[in-house]
Amino acid sequence: MNLPASVKIVEVGPRDGLQNEARALSPEVRAELIRLLGEAGLRAIEIGSFTSEKWIPQMAGSGEVLRRVLQMRGSEKISYPALVPNLRGLEDALAAGAAEIAVFAAASETFSRSNINCGIAESIARFRAVAERARAAGVAVRGYVSCALGCPYEGEIAPAEVARVARMLHTLGCYEISLGDTIGAGTPDAAAAMLECVCADIPAAQLAAHFHDTRGRALENVRAALQLGVRVVDSAVAGLGGCPYAPGASGNLATEKLVGMLDELGIAHGVDAEKLGRAGEYIRAQLAAS
Ligand code: HMG
Ligand code: MG
Repeated sequence: MNLPASVKIVEVGPRDGLQNEARALSPEVRAELIRLLGEAGLRAIEIGSFTSEKWIPQMAGSGEVLRRVLQMRGSEKISYPALVPNLRGLEDALAAGAAEIAVFAAASETFSRSNINCGIAESIARFRAVAERARAAGVAVRGYVSCALGCPYEGEIAPAEVARVARMLHTLGCYEISLGDTIGAGTPDAAAAMLECVCADIPAAQLAAHFHDTRGRALENVRAALQLGVRVVDSAVAGLGGCPYAPGASGNLATEKLVGMLDELGIAHGVDAEKLGRAGEYIRAQLAAS
């Protein structure tokens, strides 16, 4: 079995998780969650998104979240990427002090239009402009391909289409491409077939696995991805979230579950499970408070 000695976890709860919770939390609470996650040992934490408040009200105030996080940070080296859909979002992210952003395309035309109000080709043109400006500002760019294992509107998505969109993101300068099973439709076989297709063009070392746990298969899918050489896995504390433009998408793979499996497999991850549990308790309590 080709399992690695260590895996990097990208914690997406404060963005992918909270964007889909009914209750919108204040920047102060979101920044405190991010602080607790950093204290638990996570070294890449997606802090929010610079999108339209009309589309994603839960992510309003992401600039303030980032400013607070940067003020509170200690000496550990933690990256704090934020989602950016266009140049306006990039300017807001830069003004808040972002050193890393993530652009998000889709392998489904219909999902792309529902999610960011433009088709795949137009989204790539926008992201190219965003990446150029980001590079000029010394800001790293990560990329997402949503619907990599199925679309809520179009159903099955061909692996070749995922590979085509991933290639375009790679060409425009994304240092890492996260392949998103947005609706949690994936199985280990489907994940392996999709990854093999994408890996024909992009080294596995530059890919990340992003599974939603809708059907409880995210851990098995992560294992399949690790066996194919993927070394970066996205997950969300407390299994928060989903996607507001993907009906039926349940939460992301919980970071707690991921850490548990990596421990069982003897794979290093750098996260203190007890402190992670505290971050999970904190956010659950905040979401439950009326
Ligand atoms: P649009 O309506 O086409 O944009 O939306 P527009 O340029 O026509 O502008 C409309 C209004 O939005 C204007 O304001 C703009 O100023 C404003 P108004 O004049 O009406 O007052 N606006 C902005 N405001 C703040 N920040 C901005 C911004 N841009 C325009 N950056 C847009 C296009 C992309 C803005 C919109 O569709 C949007 O914000 N979409 C966000 C969707 C989103 O965040 N989805 C969830 C993330 S994707 C995901 O979760 C999947 C992932 O996790 C992977 C996986 O799971 O597979 C990544
Ligand atoms: Mg997601």
